[in-house]
Amino acid sequence: MLNPIKLSSKNFLSSLNTSYDEFLHILELAKSFKNKDLNIKLKEKVLGLIFDKASTRTRVSFQVAMSRLGGTTVDLNPTTSQIGRGEPIRDTARVLSRYCDIIAIRTFNQSDLEEYAKWSTKPVINALTDLEHPCQALADFMTIREEFIDFKNVVLTFIGDGNNVANSLILCGALLGVEVRIACPKGYEPNYLVVNKAKEIYKDKNLLKITNDIFSAVEGANVLYTDVWSSMGEENQKEEKDKDFLGFSIDSNLVQNADKDAIILHCLPAYRGKEITNEVIESKKSRIFEQAENRMHAQQALLSCLLS
Ligand code: CP
Ligand code: NVA
Repeated sequence: MLNPIKLSSKNFLSSLNTSYDEFLHILELAKSFKNKDLNIKLKEKVLGLIFDKASTRTRVSFQVAMSRLGGTTVDLNPTTSQIGRGEPIRDTARVLSRYCDIIAIRTFNQSDLEEYAKWSTKPVINALTDLEHPCQALADFMTIREEFIDFKNVVLTFIGDGNNVANSLILCGALLGVEVRIACPKGYEPNYLVVNKAKEIYKDKNLLKITNDIFSAVEGANVLYTDVWSSMGEENQKEEKDKDFLGFSIDSNLVQNADKDAIILHCLPAYRGKEITNEVIESKKSRIFEQAENRMHAQQALLSCLLS
């Protein structure tokens, strides 16, 4: 029987916190959880949830994953805890790690997440920062694997903003040796440190392509992925970005240029009619709701490893 493994990193702050083998093991565990082949109980373990930004999927999938593992969650809403008052992270982290067994945090700066991890004696999970969304990427590659069995020859094209979701796809793509193409308007390229890191991992393989030409990026692709043009925290840039991203939408015409068996992914929540059309979300090629479901299975697998 498959068992959770102790990961080399105490925390899951980045898509690069797991090795290639660990990443695949988490996906394998996630698949077993999904198929109900695994019944692992981590009795009485408590997951603390700190969300400085809104969330539906991440929050609920963590709550249900923990409950399925026989544990429980504490919702540390910043507006009702002292976090919103600005209590120093080093104090909050040291106190919470005396109550909780593990903490998942959604916040703005990656450096704040790292500060939590530095002071917490318990594992810390990145539940989304401005820089990365590694739990999302776990579910994304789980969904891709369900469709294509392995990652060999898979071409993943992300269309839109070079944001946290794109960054995690790039890093996981590099870890797994998957060709990743990013099509974005000029000036909205992914973080250069992330790109450099990915290139270093890909070594001499030229498998990361960043372009402003959406049609060349989509040609022959197996997975078309998009996310909102303006992320949480960018509300004041919305008007400008809506103009800059015109043409960077997944519509039925664009889908025709991808591989005939291509699938469509979106991390959700979506702005239908902006980065993706209603028709594409509801099309036969869409795996968007399987992808959302997989958040729960992937996080159940991640939690079982981090808590083992
Ligand atoms: N995809 C995702 O993280 O969704 P939520 O913002 O609803 O958690
Ligand atoms: N890029 C989006 C993802 C939401 C799940 C954001 O950060 O708002």
